[in-house]
Amino acid sequence: MGCLNFSPSKTSAPSLLLLLFCITNIAEAFNFTTISFDEGFSHLFGDGNLVRSPDGQNVRLLLDRYTGSGFISSSMYNHGFFSALIKLPADYTAGICVAFYTSNADVFEKTHDELDFEFLGNVAGKPWRFQTNLYGNGSTSRGREERYRLWFDPSKEFHRYSILWTARNIIFYIDEVPIREVIRKEEMGGDYPSKPMALYATIWDASNWATNGGKVKADYKFAPFVSDYKHLVLEGCPVDPIQIFPFSACYESDSRIANKDYSAVTPSRRAAMRRFRQRYMYYSYCYDTVRYPVPPPECVIDQDEQRRFKDTGRLKFGGSHKGQKRRSRRRDRNPVSEDPDI
Ligand SMILES: *[C@@H]1O[C@H](CO)[C@@H](O)[C@H](O)[C@H]1NC(C)=O
Ligand SMILES: *[C@@H]1O[C@H](CO)[C@@H](O)[C@H](O)[C@H]1NC(C)=O
Repeated sequence: MGCLNFSPSKTSAPSLLLLLFCITNIAEAFNFTTISFDEGFSHLFGDGNLVRSPDGQNVRLLLDRYTGSGFISSSMYNHGFFSALIKLPADYTAGICVAFYTSNADVFEKTHDELDFEFLGNVAGKPWRFQTNLYGNGSTSRGREERYRLWFDPSKEFHRYSILWTARNIIFYIDEVPIREVIRKEEMGGDYPSKPMALYATIWDASNWATNGGKVKADYKFAPFVSDYKHLVLEGCPVDPIQIFPFSACYESDSRIANKDYSAVTPSRRAAMRRFRQRYMYYSYCYDTVRYPVPPPECVIDQDEQRRFKDTGRLKFGGSHKGQKRRSRRRDRNPVSEDPDI
């Protein structure tokens, strides 16, 4: 589905590469069951700013000068595949954050787990960028951000964004391209998410950090900012989060998920992931030696890839400019050592 509007940028890849992306997408489309909003979700915040279609299949989240909005899965899941087709707000979106993530911060305030897609708005004419991140057992002082551009305009069409979380690995997908895989390492300890999480979708004003490190703010002249969701997927093991571990009842669900096609990083998917990361990743905590003199244990240092990054974890060429400003994060997280977007 990413093929139709795969709009190459100036530094376009050869068309063969585009073709490969498309073939990969078509040949390996995921097999899952979509659910309506009411079957799996409830309104989280933002009064009238969550709008459902009459059939409950489409959900719209709005941000205006009074409030953002969000929804949450009605259950928490011990492992799972969390996914939606999402269309992001168009035009001027500086200062806006659209987040699609799993978390259990409401239940485990000090020891929460989290897996994030965070889309960062931009001034009109400049593309959306986004980051992925993870926390485990309250590891908020150890951010694991990677930042990227996209190979399409996410405000034009719906694209599928998915998070796979198993006991063994975590995969972030865009359409059928795995863009990041974190393989659990014993040394990560509690930093690897291990407790049941709910799925969240939110839109909110992140003027203090989302765009150029907070230099460009949300402008409500362009409100409301509209984000659309459909074909929601929640495949996992619903559990009561304060039940006693281990969740033995999840054995069947875990093995069902392990056998799904979205759990298999085939050679062609791995190649697509590599191409994506070569072309679109512009910051990685694994190469940010200013911040982490010793890369966290799950980092797989690719020497070729590393050569393209400075010791601040930012690309040496392209995608970044001068500037030293730090950005503050929601929930007092440790900022990346230099804002990669300035
Ligand atoms: C898709 O998944 C369903 C249910 O898990 C299964 O019955 C069906 O055979 C699968 N189809 C394909 C093409 O794998
Ligand atoms: C999670 O953090 C709590 C409090 O800091 C600690 O007691 C516990 O051992 C940690 N669990 C794991 C799995 O690291």
